[in-house]
Amino acid sequence: MSRVKIAPSLLACDLAHIAEEVRSVEAAGADLLHFDVMDGHFVPNLTFGPGLCAAVRRLTRLPLDVHLMVTKPDSLVEPFIEAGANRISVHVEAVTHLHHSLTRIRELGAQPGVALNPATPASALDEVWPLVDFVLIMSVNPGFGGQHLIPETLDKIARIRSDRDHRGARAELLVDGGVEPGNAEALRSLGVDVLVAGTAVFRAADRRRAIAALRGDEQE
Ligand code: DX5
Ligand code: ZN
Repeated sequence: MSRVKIAPSLLACDLAHIAEEVRSVEAAGADLLHFDVMDGHFVPNLTFGPGLCAAVRRLTRLPLDVHLMVTKPDSLVEPFIEAGANRISVHVEAVTHLHHSLTRIRELGAQPGVALNPATPASALDEVWPLVDFVLIMSVNPGFGGQHLIPETLDKIARIRSDRDHRGARAELLVDGGVEPGNAEALRSLGVDVLVAGTAVFRAADRRRAIAALRGDEQE
């Protein structure tokens, strides 16, 4: 099994010091940065736009993983790609023409992904496996950091992994929400490729140790 990647979520960083925060997790071993975009409609919170994404792009070479928790993601795809997004996920619950949205992300030069809320069945992926580079499995109801992982999502992760493997698809599996050292081993053993973690990384006293603990590295 290949080594799990860690994607710190900037939602939990100190925005007053974002440059230091980005550099700190890069130095601590982050593999990519997760960038949560919320519109106040799809989820009851508002966060970041393409302007902040472009500013983060100037701070790091890490891939930027943009998670669009918005009702109308299509109009934001191009601005975020111009702002330096490498990967963009749209929520299956938000999009009417999913095939079109995913194909367009790829045509515009980013890696397309699809995100699933906790109550959305794994079968929502049945027709999109050939179109996506990754699947973002929400393990909390999206909108806020610092929540607890919903235990029932573990079974769904296992089903999604099995579906992917049976179809011979190569999409990476990401888990987002409530990821912390106490559940990271279970997630790794389910074959998750990327752990997204906000609180567990940015609120840790030692971010290098926090990332190592999520990865299951020996020095812990
Ligand atoms: C939740 C966001 C997550 C969030 C995770 O709506 O999509 O990416 O930042 O934060 P933690 O790791 O604190 O649950
Ligand atoms: Zn997210």
